[in-house]
Amino acid sequence: MIKISPSILAADFAELGKSCENVMKAGADMLHIDVMDGVFVPNISLGVPVLQSLAKRVDAFYDVHLMIHDPLKYVKPFCDAGADLITFHIEADSPVRETIEAIRAQGCKAALSIKPATPAEAVFPYLELLDMVLVMSVEPGFGGQKFMPAAVEKIALIRAEALRRGLELDIEVDGGIGTETAPACAKAGANVLVAGSAVFGAKDPAQAIAQIRKACE
Ligand code: DX5
Ligand code: ZN
Repeated sequence: MIKISPSILAADFAELGKSCENVMKAGADMLHIDVMDGVFVPNISLGVPVLQSLAKRVDAFYDVHLMIHDPLKYVKPFCDAGADLITFHIEADSPVRETIEAIRAQGCKAALSIKPATPAEAVFPYLELLDMVLVMSVEPGFGGQKFMPAAVEKIALIRAEALRRGLELDIEVDGGIGTETAPACAKAGANVLVAGSAVFGAKDPAQAIAQIRKACE
């Protein structure tokens, strides 16, 4: 079963609460919160106070994607603010095992992400410790970019390794996902699809979500 996680980066931030309620009513399974610090990626998006307000108002599963230099330092504030799952990058500056343990200790699910230049095998040593792996299909930093097809092979390698070890791992793909690109990712083994522009940018988010699901069937 495919899960759709709309990225709020494509939302109108002046209408954030309302837009998020709308996409949840439209059939989204969770909300993808892109946190950028202007250091790990060349853009600044939003932080703890925004998640805190949003989580109080909109009942949803919060899928928080940290694109920040030092994720370990911010695990507790984001979990306290309402994160249900925290994804951080293997390319960031925090120790991987310690960061995963810190996320779990806060009662959150833990995920590790790889940028386009990082091979799939980089996450293999941590698979048993993770709830999810996030494969980036664009360079992190901005919404609305073009999908990089090399992500598909990486998803397939990670899914094959998880199956080989008997692990029930979620695999999420993020960047340039829509009806054209989602099917190949789903076929390769991704079961959580992030869609920013394709959902928040659509006139009818319910239709957009339904079409992505249908394309993956
Ligand atoms: C990119 C973010 C993505 C992005 C997706 O750095 O991690 O979540 O907002 O946006 P679309 O779906 O528009 O590519
Ligand atoms: Zn993201």
